[in-house]
Amino acid sequence: MPVDARRLIRKMRGGAQAHLVEAADGHFYVVKFLNNPQHRRILANEWIAATFLNYLGISTPAVAMIRVSGTFIQENPEAYIQLGSHRRTLEEGWHFGSRFPGDPARNVVYDFLPDSLMEKVENLNEFRGVLAFDKWMGNADSRQAVFFRARIKDWLPAVSAHPLRLGFVAQMVDNGYVFEGPHWRLSDSPLQGLYFRPLVYRDVRGLEDFQPWLDRIVNFPEEVVDQAMKQIPPVWTEGDEDALAALLERLLVRRKRVPDLIEACRESRVNPFPNWRRS
Ligand SMILES: Nc1ncnc2c1ncn2[C@@H]1O[C@H](COP(=O)(O)OP(=O)(O)O)[C@@H](O)[C@H]1O
Ligand SMILES: [Mg+2]
Repeated sequence: MPVDARRLIRKMRGGAQAHLVEAADGHFYVVKFLNNPQHRRILANEWIAATFLNYLGISTPAVAMIRVSGTFIQENPEAYIQLGSHRRTLEEGWHFGSRFPGDPARNVVYDFLPDSLMEKVENLNEFRGVLAFDKWMGNADSRQAVFFRARIKDWLPAVSAHPLRLGFVAQMVDNGYVFEGPHWRLSDSPLQGLYFRPLVYRDVRGLEDFQPWLDRIVNFPEEVVDQAMKQIPPVWTEGDEDALAALLERLLVRRKRVPDLIEACRESRVNPFPNWRRS
């Protein structure tokens, strides 16, 4: 069920021209609109990616369908898409929302951390898991994440920590260009999908360092794919239903190739895994 957008907080950077809004459930969401400048298909990509990341146990913001009403558009004239000198009005209806971790008036969320803090991120190992995911999903963008300081227990239940201990948490965001964004293609470029900080792959010595996520992908259940597809609001994929079904079929076939796709990264211009043990 969708959540109503209540108030625009601010516009975010980035090609999709996402907007941060306060919603009726009391949470804040970074919203990508159906008529965003990239493509309508970006929304389905985001939804499917979020569902899969949850299943794989990789940290990513909660997602929701955000309903924009005529009243919201009237009351928030600063919410619009800029195309050159032209302003495109938002469409009423359901859009994609990625939940901001907390209240933007109080909590700071970073796109980048310096190495000294990056090393302390509690779930840094998940960058290995998400590489397996990005290889599978043919993410044509580099990996993107956000970071924030919070109580570990509240955000990373798998990490054993004192209930009050604070630390840095990473959440994987911006999955609009899985399936090559609007193209809905799965291609094999060795550089694709990597995170730009070598630090996160420093400890990779072999394929076993991509576990448990790699096994979960190779054995990914078809039901989870079906469920994700069924949850997508029909207006996001109107006329595109067959193309989406065909894409997801190809994605299932691709599951077993993910180990090879990871190994192929080593043939890219800069080997991201300098410590891979020779076999
Ligand atoms: N759930 C989130 N919480 C906090 N900030 C976010 C979240 N999702 C995205 N952002 C921020 O919003 C910016 C734009 O979102 P992103 O998904 O990267 O869109 P684009 O496709 O336009 O690059 C990101 O660079 C990031 O700083
Ligand atoms: Mg981005």
